[in-house]
Amino acid sequence: MVERTGPGLRLLAERRGFRIGTCVSILPLKNDPEYARAVAREFNVITPENALKFGVLSRSRGHYDFSDADALVDFAEKHGMQIHGHALLWYAQLPEWLVNGKPTRTELIDILTTHVTTVVGRYAGRIASWDVVNEAIATDGTLRDNVWHRIIGPEYLDMAFAAAHSADPKAQLFYNDYGIEATEQHADAVYELLRTLRGRQVPIGGVGLQMHLTLDHLSAVNRLPSMLARLADLGLPVAVTEFDVRMKMSGHPTAEQLATQASVYREVLRSCLTAQGCSTLVVWGFTDRHSWVPHFFPNQGAALLWDEEYQPKPSYHALAEELMRD
Ligand code: XIL
Repeated sequence: MVERTGPGLRLLAERRGFRIGTCVSILPLKNDPEYARAVAREFNVITPENALKFGVLSRSRGHYDFSDADALVDFAEKHGMQIHGHALLWYAQLPEWLVNGKPTRTELIDILTTHVTTVVGRYAGRIASWDVVNEAIATDGTLRDNVWHRIIGPEYLDMAFAAAHSADPKAQLFYNDYGIEATEQHADAVYELLRTLRGRQVPIGGVGLQMHLTLDHLSAVNRLPSMLARLADLGLPVAVTEFDVRMKMSGHPTAEQLATQASVYREVLRSCLTAQGCSTLVVWGFTDRHSWVPHFFPNQGAALLWDEEYQPKPSYHALAEELMRD
């Protein structure tokens, strides 16, 4: 059962004009009533975990299936929540037809523009913000060698933001990356990229810091306030977009692991609440029952706010306490 005694994160966040969100996946939303209840009670923004990714939307060229994305958008609207669209251009979860299709530069520009226009246009006025480009920088700080960069060149970023802006001029357009918890080169390169995009008047409206952390990532947490201040100097709003804190698993997590995890959750939220221009924090899932972590990181897990039985963990209480502080 989900914690019923406290006011819930959503109410605490709304009292201070803050957005607290989670990614949402379609299967548990349809099949696990406890999941849907918890999302509606605890969060005021959702990010579709996979439903808006290119490869999920378009299994064959020229064809889009929006049924899962529509269901998530309807759910969010029914519960008065904002939607953060994720992710228009990425190197992963691309359609097979694109990866195997060997498009020419002109064809790929057309594919890019059509995709961004179709998806952003469909939800114009309903999806408030978008991750337009996801993870364009490699950990060594160079532009990542992905299909967009290889075939189109660095202008693909400008093209994506321009197309998204024309399709919904009111949407807030994000660049999203895992810059800070990677290397200094990565963080510096993200900053430089944003500075040059801004300099070229690319319609970028925010930067998303994913923050998939581990218990050993305390240095990333310590660096966060200065990173946020630096980004604020660029005049860009910042959001924590995919926050989770995974741990090594052998049996159940220990009390010590859970306490360390809670302090990472607390520090990241506190840094965001005290920074200029950081008014959104989205966790990448909220219950360990439904989390990407064990599928992607062998022998790691327990990254979220509730355990597998929907019992709140110290990490949940840490966020609630931080939201209650003046
Ligand atoms: C992950 C999802 O959680 C998984 O369900 C999916 O199989 C792979 O992608 N960075 C991102 C997210 O920007 O889209 C990724 O989500 C996690 C890492």
